[in-house]
Amino acid sequence: MKLFLDTAAIDDIPTAARWGVLDGVTTNPSLFAKVGGSYDAVLREICALTSGPVSAEVVAEDVEGMLREGRHFAALAPNIVVKVPMGEAGLEAIARLADEAIKTNCTLIFSANQGLLAAKAGASLLSPFVGRLDDINENGMTVIRELANIVKIHGLASEVLVASVRHPRHVTDAALAGAHIATVPLNVLRQMVRHPLTDSGTVQFRRDWMAAQAASAGGEVDEPAATLAGAAS
Ligand code: E4P
Repeated sequence: MKLFLDTAAIDDIPTAARWGVLDGVTTNPSLFAKVGGSYDAVLREICALTSGPVSAEVVAEDVEGMLREGRHFAALAPNIVVKVPMGEAGLEAIARLADEAIKTNCTLIFSANQGLLAAKAGASLLSPFVGRLDDINENGMTVIRELANIVKIHGLASEVLVASVRHPRHVTDAALAGAHIATVPLNVLRQMVRHPLTDSGTVQFRRDWMAAQAASAGGEVDEPAATLAGAAS
């Protein structure tokens, strides 16, 4: 299971990269609007921070416009993937970009059939939006499970990228459903790191260590790292 960061904020990216868990990045016009500036400059910077796929989304509504924007993005860096919205124009643009060996991520997928069509058109990545389906009282994970199964059963070349992730449970369920990738905001990635028992366990281990040191040193308390360094020398 690959993990992408769902952000256009440059500062988010080194954090996930340092943890060794970053496989790629997805952006969209709304995420870009939060940071502003030049979309090209933001994309170039992100592409320099990760060698994984970086999705850049077209905003044109017609096929020729999508192709123009897609070719422009693809020329920015070798790891750009052009994000194209689901629809009749989107499918045609995906098929034509695939003919030019430009990778695409079909976005705004809300049903398994839409995902199947995008895969057949040649999209490398299929982005079903789990959170937005949950928001309207549907079960987003059902679509993820169905699409991941369709891709597996028919040996399709596309990967299922779970988007619109709202919380860590979405990531676990997506992994169990057989999705290839989840793209997550940094706050969700941080939530995945934490567990209250990890926090309390860390405090307890440190407290016990210091109590043992105090007992053996006749009441003097050493920091654990200093004690270990002393023992090694
Ligand atoms: C990423 O590819 C999507 O654009 C993003 O996950 C959408 O998330 P949202 O539903 O929280 O806007």
